[in-house]
Amino acid sequence: MKTWTALKIKQTKGRQKLCCLTATDCAYARLLDEAGIPLILVGDSLAMTVLGYETTLPVTLTEMLHHTAAVARGTSAALVVGDMPFMSYQASTAQAVGNAGRFLKEAGADAVKLEGGAVRVPAVRALTANGIPVLGHIGLTPQSIRAMGGYTVQGRKPEDARRILDDARALDAAGVFAIVLECMPPALAAEVTAAVSVPTIGIGAGPSCDGQILVLHDVLGLTPEPAPKFVKRYADLAGTVREAIAAYRRDVENGAYPAPEHGY
Ligand code: KIV
Repeated sequence: MKTWTALKIKQTKGRQKLCCLTATDCAYARLLDEAGIPLILVGDSLAMTVLGYETTLPVTLTEMLHHTAAVARGTSAALVVGDMPFMSYQASTAQAVGNAGRFLKEAGADAVKLEGGAVRVPAVRALTANGIPVLGHIGLTPQSIRAMGGYTVQGRKPEDARRILDDARALDAAGVFAIVLECMPPALAAEVTAAVSVPTIGIGAGPSCDGQILVLHDVLGLTPEPAPKFVKRYADLAGTVREAIAAYRRDVENGAYPAPEHGY
């Protein structure tokens, strides 16, 4: 059994700040797992960071299962959450159960994430009743980008804030083990956090959430500027990679590589 289960994540509420990250492959998953990250999300943001799509909408279930399996192979302690892609769970509860089951059965995930609030209650109930832990996701939900009209802060108007609060309560009652709160005013995230029994995991939602999550490629400086305002870069790997490739190219072109010690 993993050190981190969905139940254990749920029980951290009020006891520990959860530091969560995304991962998309086995190499990074190993590093995150070694670092003690309790929850690794194989986010559908990999559509942009790894696969070169413009939004998360085109990424397929097959692609998500492929990346989730790679992350699961690199993880022994962290809870691995597979992000269900656009239109893999929205059509019906049966579709949601069938496809979520594939994340656990074929890809080795420990849980799945669904975007949406009260509208997802039937799916959350069915998944949890069938032994599939669910991470909720409300606020800015990138799979609804066409309807939302842009990547904008959610819940600024009182009626939108009320809907977000209601969505959080509905997901909590339906049985999610935690809820991602994306891009909302910190005061609203604090209110949601106080209103639900499960941990909230913020991304662009201020410091009052029970935990934080960021996209690993943003944290490591692998995504183009400008990053979203909420991102803090902890490294400049793009710069490091550029320098390494330039040095290798110089060495090959001027004959410095391979040197005698690299030969047989
Ligand atoms: O796809 C993703 O990376 C997400 C975020 C919550 C980090 O959903």
